[in-house]
Amino acid sequence: MSSSKMRHCLELSSWIPDQYLFFFTQIQKTKQSGFQSLKKEFTDQCVGLIFQEPSTRTRVSYQKAIDHIGATSYIVENNSSLAKGETLADTIKTLQSMGIHHFIVRTSTDEIFEIAKCYQKGFLINAGSGTKHHPTQGLLDAFTIWENFGKLEGLQIVLLGDLMHSRVARSNLAWMKAFGIKPTVCGPASWVNDFEPEHVIIEDDMTKAIENADVVMLHRIQKERFREEEDFQQEEYFQKYCMTIEKLTQTKKDAIVMHPGPINRGIELSTDVADHEKSKILQQVENGLWTRICLLQTLLRAGSL
Ligand code: CP
Repeated sequence: MSSSKMRHCLELSSWIPDQYLFFFTQIQKTKQSGFQSLKKEFTDQCVGLIFQEPSTRTRVSYQKAIDHIGATSYIVENNSSLAKGETLADTIKTLQSMGIHHFIVRTSTDEIFEIAKCYQKGFLINAGSGTKHHPTQGLLDAFTIWENFGKLEGLQIVLLGDLMHSRVARSNLAWMKAFGIKPTVCGPASWVNDFEPEHVIIEDDMTKAIENADVVMLHRIQKERFREEEDFQQEEYFQKYCMTIEKLTQTKKDAIVMHPGPINRGIELSTDVADHEKSKILQQVENGLWTRICLLQTLLRAGSL
């Protein structure tokens, strides 16, 4: 991959395996070298973080990544003029007038794609938009699996839970498609039936879905995205789809469990599973930081060519 061609990072559907492998190698090298090897090479760069929706992992990891490479971050959240009706596009123009030209944006809509069509002054990173795109979560999840197994091709992957509302699931499906992986999707019918059968295997029975899995990716129940008529029975969900220690023991010896976070203990997974050695949830969080450091370096270096 030529990193000089990369201007923004909005989604993963156009990425090819070589691009992922380029990033995996970069992330692995950077992680192995540690924080002390990072150079403060971007002291003249300012990055605006515009977060219209709550975030801990993504926002803090970007802030920390920006600190490590010597740039400066400015945070705009919902206690800003966004709450007074200022649009995302006008917020970006406002910050640009102060000399901030790079933006990392989390929104409930896909407006960032329209803005990106004519945005040339710096980079735009999608930190999660709507229900379709969370590219760095997809990238860090793919890296975490690659780090654990040394490959992606040929792995049996299960996506479990609230997939309908999940931009994480769709971002992960993008790289799975690129690597020729047809995952199993499992969850209440109304949450999995919209996925195209040529790209996924639909399985209602969790026990069957996970028995041969290498990777079980759990997804948060996103009540904040439910439509009014949506009928969610928490106890029924727990019985059928919660990853309990009993179900975990039915997975293969080397199987791993992932969750993008934030987790709901006792809903998507039990506490003993969350803290189990097969759980890679905190490894995902750590890899999120290294992934974002490498992405920022790549975009800022490309912009200076
Ligand atoms: N996984 C994820 O995006 O977490 P945050 O909402 O905490 O950023």
